[in-house]
Amino acid sequence: MGYRSYFKDKVIVVTGASSGIGLASARLFGSLGAFVVMAARSLEKMQELSASVSQDPSRVLCVKADVSVEDDCRALMEQTVERFGRIDILVNNAGLSMRAMFADLDLKVLRTLMDVNFWGTVQCTKYALPHLLKTKGQVVGVISIAGYSALPARTGYSSSKYAIRGFLDTLRIEHLKDGLGVLVFAPGYTSSNVRNAALTADGSAQGKTPLEEGKLMSAEECALHLAKALARRRSEVILTGLGKATVAFHRLFPRLTDRLTYSFIAREADSPFK
Ligand SMILES: NC(=O)c1ccc[n+]([C@@H]2O[C@H](COP(=O)([O-])OP(=O)(O)OC[C@H]3O[C@@H](n4cnc5c(N)ncnc54)[C@H](OP(=O)(O)O)[C@@H]3O)[C@@H](O)[C@H]2O)c1
Repeated sequence: MGYRSYFKDKVIVVTGASSGIGLASARLFGSLGAFVVMAARSLEKMQELSASVSQDPSRVLCVKADVSVEDDCRALMEQTVERFGRIDILVNNAGLSMRAMFADLDLKVLRTLMDVNFWGTVQCTKYALPHLLKTKGQVVGVISIAGYSALPARTGYSSSKYAIRGFLDTLRIEHLKDGLGVLVFAPGYTSSNVRNAALTADGSAQGKTPLEEGKLMSAEECALHLAKALARRRSEVILTGLGKATVAFHRLFPRLTDRLTYSFIAREADSPFK
């Protein structure tokens, strides 16, 4: 079956659907005939964007949800089932990054990153799981190359993404015989708002990006990789040439990769090593 027909009438919950990879994925799923549930904190923004997901308002639901709040995750899944009757796919995409050396970091920043990225994924998965088991559906965790090979000045980000990988790899084995698909999806650098929203040492947003966003993979291309991986019911995807090389190098030559990563980040604009 081609990936295009796979999504017809599937009920797909996308967290972090107000921007970037989540929004591009919601739009792609909508264009392929899915019922899409958009979840994020910015409700009005999602409501404005929902027409770009489906022109038929009966096929899109926008839910205000902070994934770090357990009750919001429970309500998100309840509202989805109330409206569409089932859940076929949960895309745990909502995420937050950071940029500060651990020595300078207020620990509340690291806790926030774990609450949103790791606990957000765990909580949404917990409340979607009974429904996903009924449909023999799929759960996705959008992690990062930083979930395989650590990035300096992103302790909270790397820790949370490694943790999501451990959680989902475990869940896959627990449900090996139940028909549940579990996809660990690791984009490489992708153009989005993630670096502007990234938290600095005191918890305030960075408000700028150290990268040339225009040169990165587009969120639309990333979403296309996600759709193809879901249609093939893959369990792991690592994107971009740099991302694949980094993961492979990290496995084969971990100490050399530490030194290469140090040099790479030292060359970044406003490098934390300066
Ligand atoms: N862009 C990259 O280079 C890259 C690379 C690898 C992995 N990723 C991962 O891809 C995912 C999507 O990021 P992006 O690049 O598309 O960034 P983005 O444009 O900043 O989008 C992040 C999304 O997450 C939502 N979000 C943030 N905190 C939330 C919370 N507490 N509860 C619910 N939603 C929340 C935001 O919506 P609200 O602010 O409206 O809540 C927004 O919709 C993240 O998990 C990120 O770590 C990105």
